[in-house]
Amino acid sequence: MTDKTSAISRLLHHRSQGLSKGEAVSLPIHATSVFHLPGEPDGSHFYARNGNPTVEAVEAEIGILEGADVVCFPSGMAAIASVFYSVLRPGDTVLVPSDGYYNVRNLLNAQFAPMGVTMRTCPTADMAEADMTGCRLVQIETPANPGLAVCDIARVAERAKAAGALVMADNTTATPLCQRPLDLGADVCVLSDTKAMAGHSDVMCGHVATRNADLFDAVKTWRRLAGAIVGPFDAYLLHRGLETLEVRLGRMNANALAVAEAVLGHKAVSAVHYPGLGNDPFHQVAKRQMNGFGPIVSFTLASQANADRFIAGCPLLSPATSFGGVHSSAERRARWGDEVPDGFVRFAAGIEPTGDLVAAVTQALDALS
Ligand SMILES: Cc1ncc(COP(=O)(O)O)c(C=O)c1O
Repeated sequence: MTDKTSAISRLLHHRSQGLSKGEAVSLPIHATSVFHLPGEPDGSHFYARNGNPTVEAVEAEIGILEGADVVCFPSGMAAIASVFYSVLRPGDTVLVPSDGYYNVRNLLNAQFAPMGVTMRTCPTADMAEADMTGCRLVQIETPANPGLAVCDIARVAERAKAAGALVMADNTTATPLCQRPLDLGADVCVLSDTKAMAGHSDVMCGHVATRNADLFDAVKTWRRLAGAIVGPFDAYLLHRGLETLEVRLGRMNANALAVAEAVLGHKAVSAVHYPGLGNDPFHQVAKRQMNGFGPIVSFTLASQANADRFIAGCPLLSPATSFGGVHSSAERRARWGDEVPDGFVRFAAGIEPTGDLVAAVTQALDALS
């Protein structure tokens, strides 16, 4: 392999590079809580809350994609929590998007506000110019779930640095293949790998990636003490998904763009949000910092009833929450209390052939009128 070999090729051949004759080519699942430990501990594996070879193999693979040290967790929220618990102390202020994944704000309100941590919020669209004075941590989520607003990561990082704050980027909606926040100045990335990274809607997992050695140590220590390590079977499923990430994401992104173009201008649709659309207000900044625009498209129908009828009437849609899986799915986001219109649909493109998906979506929209 050369310096120019892509991260995904390096990920695919990472294990085989280190194999001895007779070893399994596929990644073994180390289903054990304890490791053979005669005599004194010497730094090798001894108890699986501290580390497991299957988990470490997946961390190395994600590390190739991120170009950073990686710690894996049993969910995206556990990954986010690990950074908050590692960084935030009483008296600190954290700035988070008002339009990002709602459980981040719930976590800060429930666990950190009572400990004296102040949460400030700001819409993703305004994050690059937000007041960061006095902040210890600035969290961004771009594109933000579910409204798909985008912020300029490099600008946020530059301003946060000047204010003395760390930047944590939730890169779940894009993945490291479509967007590289660490290269743009973010200190740490968090992802829900439950979504496109694992990709088959069959496992909960997440990761933290950073090039900051102190932060990496703090997050890893928190995981060991809190006991939040991902299990070896789940780590294996994540590994299995990562091997096809690029192929799946290519189809999902193409499907998302095709659906966005198909619903744009449809008489049943009043607004479409997709940073890949040329007329989207975030297209220019997204084009600068993304290599693909992700699998989510959001659009607004006239009412809750129309959104429910569309989702029920589209034969290639699972009515489900989440995104990044191989089956297209959709949901009405107001049902979770997101500040969006009642008829707002978050559509998550899967890997169905594009023509089939566009035909199914168009047919279900046509049936509304
Ligand atoms: C952007 C974003 N970040 C984090 C999470 C949390 O991830 P998990 O459900 O794996 O805990 C989600 C879940 O939907 C999400 O959409």
